Amino acid sequence: MSSERPAAVVVLAAGEGTRMKSKTPKVLHEIAGRSLVGHVVAAARELDPTHLVVVVGHESERVTAHLAAVDDRLRTAHQAEQRGTGNAVRVGLDELGGTAEGTVVVVCGDTPLLSGETLAALSATHTTDANAVTVLTAEVPDATGYGRIVRDPATGAVTEIVEHKDASDAQRAIREINSGVFAFDGRLLADALGQVRTDNSQGEEYLTDVLSILREAGHRVGACVAGDHHEILGINNRVQLTEARRLLNQRLLERAMTAGVTVVDPASTLIDVTVTYERDAVVHPGTQLLGTTHLSEDAEVGPNSRLKDTRVGVGARVDNTVSEGAEIGEAATVGPYAYLRPGTRLGTRSKAGTYVEMKNAAIGEGTKVPHLSYVGDATIGDHTNIGAASVFVNYDGVAKHHTTIGSHCRTGSDNMFVAPVTIGDGVYTAAGSVITKDVPPGSLAVARGQQRNIEGWVARKRPGSAAAQAAQSAAAGHDGES
Ligand code: UD1
Ligand code: CA
Repeated sequence: MSSERPAAVVVLAAGEGTRMKSKTPKVLHEIAGRSLVGHVVAAARELDPTHLVVVVGHESERVTAHLAAVDDRLRTAHQAEQRGTGNAVRVGLDELGGTAEGTVVVVCGDTPLLSGETLAALSATHTTDANAVTVLTAEVPDATGYGRIVRDPATGAVTEIVEHKDASDAQRAIREINSGVFAFDGRLLADALGQVRTDNSQGEEYLTDVLSILREAGHRVGACVAGDHHEILGINNRVQLTEARRLLNQRLLERAMTAGVTVVDPASTLIDVTVTYERDAVVHPGTQLLGTTHLSEDAEVGPNSRLKDTRVGVGARVDNTVSEGAEIGEAATVGPYAYLRPGTRLGTRSKAGTYVEMKNAAIGEGTKVPHLSYVGDATIGDHTNIGAASVFVNYDGVAKHHTTIGSHCRTGSDNMFVAPVTIGDGVYTAAGSVITKDVPPGSLAVARGQQRNIEGWVARKRPGSAAAQAAQSAAAGHDGES
C-alpha cells in the first residue's frame, strides 16, 4: 500500500485539555510509556513526511521541550490564541512558508491509538482518488461531541461536516463521525483556509469547513472509513485516557502473544510500546514491563514484578521483583522479593535471592547472593557465595566507595564489607565479621569480638527468675544423668 511521501504532517496540539483537570497539558499525559502526542508523532513518522510540524500553544515551552526529546527532526509552530482547528492548521502551514506542494496530512495530538497503517491507508486513498481532501471517518456507537459526516442521500458522496454543537436533530442521528484526521492537497488547503469563517456556535475557525469550501469550488472530496473505530478515540478526559491505555495495552500484548510470548493474564499485565521480546518468554500475572525492557527466549517473569529498562537473559527467572536499569544474565534467578537498581549486572546462572537489593553491582557467573542482603557498588567474581544478611557498606556519609570480592569465595552470614575494600580469590570469612581491611587470596578473615561466657551470672543477678529456675533444673538434670 505504498503511497507518495506526504509533503507534511501537521499535528494539532495547542489546546489545554481543560477536561483533564490537570497541571499537565493534555498531550503530555502518558499511556504505554509514551505521551499522547508522542504516539501521534510516532504514527506520523511512519509516513516519512518531508516535514513534521506540531502546532503548540498552551504551555508551549513545556510541550516544545518534550517534543524535542521525542523527535529531534520535527518542527513546532506557535499558535498564540486557540482560535480553532482551521486557524491551528494555518499556523502550521505558516511554519512551512504558508503552503506545501503535495499532500498535507492533519492529525490531532490527542488520538494516541491512531496507527501508521491507518494514516498510510488514508494517504493512499487520497492519492489514488486524486482528491482535494480526504477525511478519515468512523462509525461509532456514541457520536456525542463529534463532528458528523453529512453525505448526499442520492450519491453517498460527502457534502459537509457539521459540528455536534451546530447540528440539527436529524444530523445528530448520524453515527459516522469526523476523526479529525485529513489528507489535503497542500495548495488547495492553504487557499481554502483563507475563506474559513467564524459564524458558528463556538466562534472558531473550523478546519472541517474546508471540506465544503473545496467541494463547492468543484474539487473532489472523499472519505476513508477506519476499520476499527477505537483507533480514532480522542482523549478529552481521564476516563478516555484509561480506556485508551486499556485498548493500546491489549493491542501490544496481542502483538507479543502473536510473536510467541505467553501472557498468562493480559488483564493484569502492562506493557510499554518500547518493550521487546523473544519467543517462549512467559509473563505471569501482575507484571509491568516498562521502558526498554527486553525478554529473551525462555525468560520467565512474574508474578507481581515491575521491570523497567531491564534486560532479562535467556531462560532467566524473575519472581516478585522490582528492577530498573539491570541486566539479568542467562539462566540467572532473581527473587522472590528482590530489588535491582540501575547498574546491576547479573552473570550467567547467578542469583539475587529473597529480600536482596543490588545497585551498580557486577555479579559473576554462578555467584549467589541468596538471602537478605544489600550489594551496592561492588564487583564479585565467579562462583562465589555471599552469606545471608550481608551488607556492602558503600556510603561513608559523604562519598560512595567500591567493594571487590574475588572468585570462589565463601563469605559468612551477617558480614559487613566496609568499602573501599578488596577480598581476594578463594577467601572465606567468618560469620558476623565486619571486614574493613583487604583480605589476601586464600585467607580466612575473622573480624569480630571473641565470645566470653560468664558462668552463674543469671543465678547471681536474676535470682528467682524463670531463667534462673530453668538454668537450675538444667544443672540438676545434668547432675542426675552423670
Ligand atoms: C474536532 C473536530 C470534530 C471531530 C473531533 C474528533 C473541528 C472543528 N472539529 O472537534 O469534527 O469530530 O475533533 O476528535 O475540527 N487545537 C489547536 N488549536 C485550536 C483548537 C484546537 O491546536 O485552536 C487542537 C487541540 O489541541 C486538539 C485538536 O486540535 O488536539 C482538536 O481540537 P478539539 O477542541 O479537541 O476539537 P473537538 O471539539 O474535539
Ligand atoms: Ca477533541
